[in-house]
Amino acid sequence: MADQPSVAAADRAAELARSIEAHNRAYYVDDEPTISDAEYDALFRELVDLEANYPALKRVDSPTQRVGAPPSTAFSSITHGQAMFSLANCFNDDELTRFDDSLRRELGVETLTYNAEPKFDGSALNLRYVGGVLESAATRGDGTVGEAVTPNARTIRNLPLRLAGEFAADSVLEVRGEVVMPRSRFERLNAGLVDSGNKPFANPRNAAAGSLRQLDSAITAERPLMFYAYGIGQRIDVAITDRISEQLERLDRLGFTVSPHIERVQGVAGCIDYYQRMAERRPELDVEIDGCVFKLDDGAQRAEAGFVARAPRWAIARKFPAEEVVTTLADVDFQVGRTGAVTPVAKLVPVAVGGVTVSNASLHNADEIARKDVRIGDQVRIRRAGDVIPEIVGRAAAERPADTRAIEIPAACPECGSAVDRVGDDAIARCTGGLVCPAQLREALKHFASKSAMDIDGLGERQIVAFVADNLLASPADIYRLYQYRDALIERPGYGEKSVDNLLAAIETSKNTTLARFLYALGIREVGSVTADSLAERYKTLDAVRMAALDYPDQVARVSAEHSTKKAQEDALSETGLRALPDIGPRVAECIAEFFAEPQNQRVIDELLAAGIVWPQPEVSVAGGELAGVTFVITGRLPTLTKDELEARINAAGGRVASNVSKKIDYVVVGEDAGSKQERAASLGITQLNEAGALALVDGS
Ligand code: IVH
Repeated sequence: MADQPSVAAADRAAELARSIEAHNRAYYVDDEPTISDAEYDALFRELVDLEANYPALKRVDSPTQRVGAPPSTAFSSITHGQAMFSLANCFNDDELTRFDDSLRRELGVETLTYNAEPKFDGSALNLRYVGGVLESAATRGDGTVGEAVTPNARTIRNLPLRLAGEFAADSVLEVRGEVVMPRSRFERLNAGLVDSGNKPFANPRNAAAGSLRQLDSAITAERPLMFYAYGIGQRIDVAITDRISEQLERLDRLGFTVSPHIERVQGVAGCIDYYQRMAERRPELDVEIDGCVFKLDDGAQRAEAGFVARAPRWAIARKFPAEEVVTTLADVDFQVGRTGAVTPVAKLVPVAVGGVTVSNASLHNADEIARKDVRIGDQVRIRRAGDVIPEIVGRAAAERPADTRAIEIPAACPECGSAVDRVGDDAIARCTGGLVCPAQLREALKHFASKSAMDIDGLGERQIVAFVADNLLASPADIYRLYQYRDALIERPGYGEKSVDNLLAAIETSKNTTLARFLYALGIREVGSVTADSLAERYKTLDAVRMAALDYPDQVARVSAEHSTKKAQEDALSETGLRALPDIGPRVAECIAEFFAEPQNQRVIDELLAAGIVWPQPEVSVAGGELAGVTFVITGRLPTLTKDELEARINAAGGRVASNVSKKIDYVVVGEDAGSKQERAASLGITQLNEAGALALVDGS
């Protein structure tokens, strides 16, 4: 057991901690070092040694804790003491003026005083101090609950582990601010990452957010992060003024770094003037900002203005416009996505925009290229807003160089050579290769194995690319045959018995799924997880989904024969079948119909089911399902029930309701103004029932 520390040792440790933190503050917050690096190191080492000899002396707020704690495997959640709100945005002076006008009107004040601040472009952090000591740090998360990143936050050198001044033991103070990485340090970090063979960060914001969310805080400790405090959250037993400008001064005295560019300004004129000055200064600042924030300075006025949804009505962010630069469009590549879409990607002469070097930009599709009238060799304007992929805004000059070349969508897929189809009205060129195309296959497999689909742990991009290249996977069903290659897989470089068995186990586990996940995993164009959920919810079985899909084109044909106006056709279509689902419009319905009509897709589905993929089957009703196998069509207005209600009753008894009358239909339930379906039923000799007759069948009497 370690020795008990003497009183002298304890006193010395406390004194060292205090003094090191004071030097930290002088260096990191005030930018005015008070001692030499060597002297600082000597103090630091003395404290490290003392704590090593007497672990009891190691306090959570010790400066030695700034080097990181042992890595964890996941972040736990923390509920913020007070919710972290977001900010309403505006993009021009008019919008800003409207914001000010409405506040002035509501508060009945001629000229309002705002606290004007830079809007930092980093990652929000909420610090919770109990008794003046940092207890926890959490990311913003959804505003109510964030991720606990306390050991990481402790490594940020300008973030006080203990507040200056006296605090009651149970007092609570939440301090909010932004974690950022200064531009100069970001460039150095990226250069180092590239040298060591790692991927650089796209911009300082990603670098800050990524560093803050490291599971190994020792890595965070090596990242040059800074914390800028901009606000206060929950406070218990801590006296603090309600005026924002004074709160920020107080934060400075408590030991935080607060932006030196904060001002109190009068009225919207003061805001606009501040914004213009910050826009001019922006390029010189070492910390990235993406706009200015204006907050009502006065606490009583803020209380009166209140909140809407997740944002206060007393504050607004005036964002800088997305930066635009000019460069040369050097060439165009074509990328093939999961659904075969062939997307043109512009290759640019590299250019710096918004803090990153850009060499690719999206051109979307052929129509966009035509609309923007750009050719290879043109000078083009590039815009980058936030994190989105940079895009080509248009040509930079009316004049174009003599030797430009038109951008041609290739007739053959660059990945597999299959024909590229440009029919259809969506302007998208598509490779017709399906799963024969390695690009589509890779993307389809990635989608199939992804978390919200079949959720196969360990089958990610890297494995899929390699397995496709080696012909181990040529369709999603092949995933369930991988076990046959266990020995060969174990021999692969970078694999071993354990990792292969884990992968095979994950594949096995994925066989127990849900209908919704399975439908989503199939990668039907336009069918995201929400649509897959509603299909599963509505149709209950894969067969019923398939029937509805295959019936859709017939339904469209019938409806257009029966109704002359577009409106009447739309109304009729949305009454039954696929289109009756709230999130399925014409385009989605067509994609679902096309998918099930394609024999290749049917084969993949059959193989997957044969491999043993299962999901819980819908419960057969207690009524015994006496209507099992019986199919109804409902048409016209019923006297007491809606169509949906009757359908629910029929389903509960095990029966099915179809949208169109055919020879396979057992009964047609006829209401008022029934029209053509009734005629068709009559001509096919199908039994017709009224509502009461249908209910009698349902109730088994
Ligand atoms: S105040 C109730 N002040 O912007 C007001 N936020 O869109 C809440 N941000 O996630 C925020 N600089 O992380 C405020 N000077 C500043 C800010 C700032 C950057 C971020 C913040 C928040 C986001 C809101």
